[in-house]
Amino acid sequence: MINRIKDKIHAFVFWQTSIGEVVNKIYDLNLFYKYSFTQNNLKTKEKFEYYLTKQYHIIEKGLSLPSPRLEFGKETILNLIIKSTNYYEIYGTSELLTSISSCLNEYLNFNKIHNVNTDTDYYNNIRKFINEVQPNKLGGTKEMTKKALLKSIDFDFKNFLKTRTSVRDFSNKEVELNKIIEIIDLAKLAPSVCNRQGWKAHIYTNPKLINQLLILQNGNRGFTNSINKLLIISGDMRSFTKLESNQIYIDGGIFSMNVLLSLHSKGLGAVALNTCLPYTIEKKVKKLAGLEEYEKLIMMIAVGNIKDNFKIAVSNRKDTNRVYQIHT
Ligand SMILES: Cc1cc2nc3c(=O)[nH]c(=O)nc-3n(C[C@H](O)[C@H](O)[C@H](O)COP(=O)(O)O)c2cc1C
Repeated sequence: MINRIKDKIHAFVFWQTSIGEVVNKIYDLNLFYKYSFTQNNLKTKEKFEYYLTKQYHIIEKGLSLPSPRLEFGKETILNLIIKSTNYYEIYGTSELLTSISSCLNEYLNFNKIHNVNTDTDYYNNIRKFINEVQPNKLGGTKEMTKKALLKSIDFDFKNFLKTRTSVRDFSNKEVELNKIIEIIDLAKLAPSVCNRQGWKAHIYTNPKLINQLLILQNGNRGFTNSINKLLIISGDMRSFTKLESNQIYIDGGIFSMNVLLSLHSKGLGAVALNTCLPYTIEKKVKKLAGLEEYEKLIMMIAVGNIKDNFKIAVSNRKDTNRVYQIHT
């Protein structure tokens, strides 16, 4: 009880003073610099993988341009081969390496088809890597048609978006765990910087733990007990590099939105719950929730089945003309 009062006072101080805000930011930045990667500090498998994903995606997206420049990205590719070989020597093969290999394979064929002389050391380096790590079809480019794309959007998207709404009054019916996993499987299709996917959805099913976590959150009063499952969306600091300390919130936010939309697509009710916490409380939440130090809280999402009838907040939106600005 005393601890809870202490936390509240602490939180109050942090929210009310700009010093608190600065201290919070410094704490976050400190962790970010501890865990984010640079080309020269790929000391863990995860950092290595995030780095390689970033680098090979540069080639992958280059190949998807209307007319890629012949032999583009030579330096990036040579570096990618060196680093991928280092990775291979330490950790052995992986789906990531085979994706890199297919991407390089496509790059090689692209240049060959366009009459570039591929009988050079540069291309032999690429060939050597491809021979060592067999390509799969999970890297490079793939065909898409307008017809297929238009067919996929042939549904009432406006209504789907309009009916996605925060629910704060759930039924007491159990939400199946399988359903949540299906939802995460959909949500992971969210875009992310260089396709790094530096996020995670932690799923909580134990009512006691859910309750303990929600005590530390500021926006669930009045419906705590009707929440059936709790998600905590985190961003992975190891997936980001210099000048990307804000990217963790952007990618994490986009992923979270996909989770919310996917929950809606499965007919479940949900509400995002802020994690605007001073770092002292965030540390507590992370410890209780079993998150690693390198994870940043993005948001919580309360989930439940929906009742036959329930009320929702109107949450009126601004006029559209206040949301856009045309620049000529
Ligand atoms: C990051 C984020 C944090 C939020 N935190 C809370 C919260 O702590 N408690 C709550 O009841 N609603 C929370 N909301 C829900 C918003 O109040 C709600 O999304 C907004 O009013 C728009 O309404 P709608 O979701 O029904 O469209 C949050 C929403 C977002 C995106």
